[in-house]
Amino acid sequence: LVLVIDFGGQYNQLIARRVRDNNVYCEILPCTTDIEKIKAKNPTGIIFTGGPNSAYLPDSPTISTEIFELGVPVLGICYGDQLIAHLLGGKVEKGGKQQKEYGKTEITYKESALFEGINTNSVWMSHTDYISELPTGFEVIAYTADCPIAAMQNVERNIYGVQFHPEVEHCLDGDKVLRNFLYNICKVKGDWTTDSFIEDKIKEIKEKVGDRKALCGLSGGVDSSVAAVLMHRAIGDNLTCVFVDHGLLRKDEGDDVERIFRDKFDMNLIRVNAEDRFLSKLKGVTEPERKRKIIGEEFIRVFEEESEKLGKMDFLVQGTIYADVIESGHGNGAATIKSHHNVGGLPEDVDFQEIIEPLRELFKDEVRRIGLELGIDEDLIYRHPFPGPGLGIRVIGEVTKEKCDILREADAIYMEELKKAGLYKEIWQAFATLPDVKTVGVMGDERTYAYLVGIRAVSSSDGMTSDWYKMPYDVLEKISNRIVNEVEGANRVVYDITSKPPGTIEWE
Ligand code: XMP
Repeated sequence: LVLVIDFGGQYNQLIARRVRDNNVYCEILPCTTDIEKIKAKNPTGIIFTGGPNSAYLPDSPTISTEIFELGVPVLGICYGDQLIAHLLGGKVEKGGKQQKEYGKTEITYKESALFEGINTNSVWMSHTDYISELPTGFEVIAYTADCPIAAMQNVERNIYGVQFHPEVEHCLDGDKVLRNFLYNICKVKGDWTTDSFIEDKIKEIKEKVGDRKALCGLSGGVDSSVAAVLMHRAIGDNLTCVFVDHGLLRKDEGDDVERIFRDKFDMNLIRVNAEDRFLSKLKGVTEPERKRKIIGEEFIRVFEEESEKLGKMDFLVQGTIYADVIESGHGNGAATIKSHHNVGGLPEDVDFQEIIEPLRELFKDEVRRIGLELGIDEDLIYRHPFPGPGLGIRVIGEVTKEKCDILREADAIYMEELKKAGLYKEIWQAFATLPDVKTVGVMGDERTYAYLVGIRAVSSSDGMTSDWYKMPYDVLEKISNRIVNEVEGANRVVYDITSKPPGTIEWE
């Protein structure tokens, strides 16, 4: 196990991901974690992340220097590097015009186990502070034109620091730096795979749940499906899945869920048709965060009612994955952007003993890999992510059945055309949205006055950042023609060309 200690930087989850790509299991812990807890985890290596603060300021995130006495190799990245310098007697200062470096930067490496096998000379920088004096016992192992201490080491104490960001894609050979740290310095075994994750998780769940009963909220999306099947493997019929059809799903989605989970996996599945209930709660509500809260809360209430009918349920299983955690502001230091209902909007008085989130530490692509290994249909596994509140936040403004139906039809055509064009898998997420806007059109000799449909497609690897997908014109044309011709109530289509940031993926 390698621990990534989170100081609030924006690339923290990427670090964890790169570590796992090297077949090493890792977990992210906030820097406020008690040192005893860190010790108890018995890590083989520790990585300090970057962060937006200045190591020398009194209120900045920090960590007990005991961490350097554990005999475990430490690698500091950016803020992590500066914090090591600051804590161990070096000096960190605010950079003048010169010492600040952003983006691609030329670097000169010296000999170090950290840089073994690297022949390139460019890295990716993003810092305003810099280390002006080495801590005692350290030596410089890389420098740039403006930054005399771009990397440092204390071989005896096994402490390393790099000012650049080896975790980001644009950092040449950054993956080698991390790999060298893991294999040359931490001497990891490198035997973590999705197979071993499944085995370990099943064991862990069995131990935790024992003979008790768990209720799983199945949404039909990748995350909750994988969580459910994993739980089912571990505890069999002690798991009951409740699938709340809130009437805000994509076309045919509800029937697909029944087919897969009841028929194929032979799981206890209860489908609750609660469309009316959700729509009546949403009546007149237009504010997105309030819609999320209402849907999230109603979801839990429906669960509770079902679980009451089922008798005592000890655990509630959720398909939360890492991106949900960090975007809800639960990752240390990250700001709340949207409260994803499966984390942020959870009512405080949830009446279950405990919540189990078996995928909480995983990235989307890892969840997919695990789902395939568990035998879940490819179609479901590669289905684009779908927000918990569903069409509730894709129908902009007030949600009504009429609008949901229009959107469902438009979205289904859009997906069908993407699949036909062979683009579906290449796109990270695509969907139609229905802004609360009607426009004038002409069909035959008739004037029409109907809804505008927005279509969006983005490329991304984790949903944290994304770029709008450069969709071929002929495909766009086909989609637009079909939507306008086939969907009653829609007469115009626009394509969203906003990246994230500054946009978010969903419109609400
Ligand atoms: P945004 O719109 O924040 O979306 O860029 C990032 C990813 O999260 C999904 N999303 C949600 N998922 N509950 C969810 O479970 C939500 O309230 C929610 N809002 C956005 C979004 O579809 C994208 O994949």
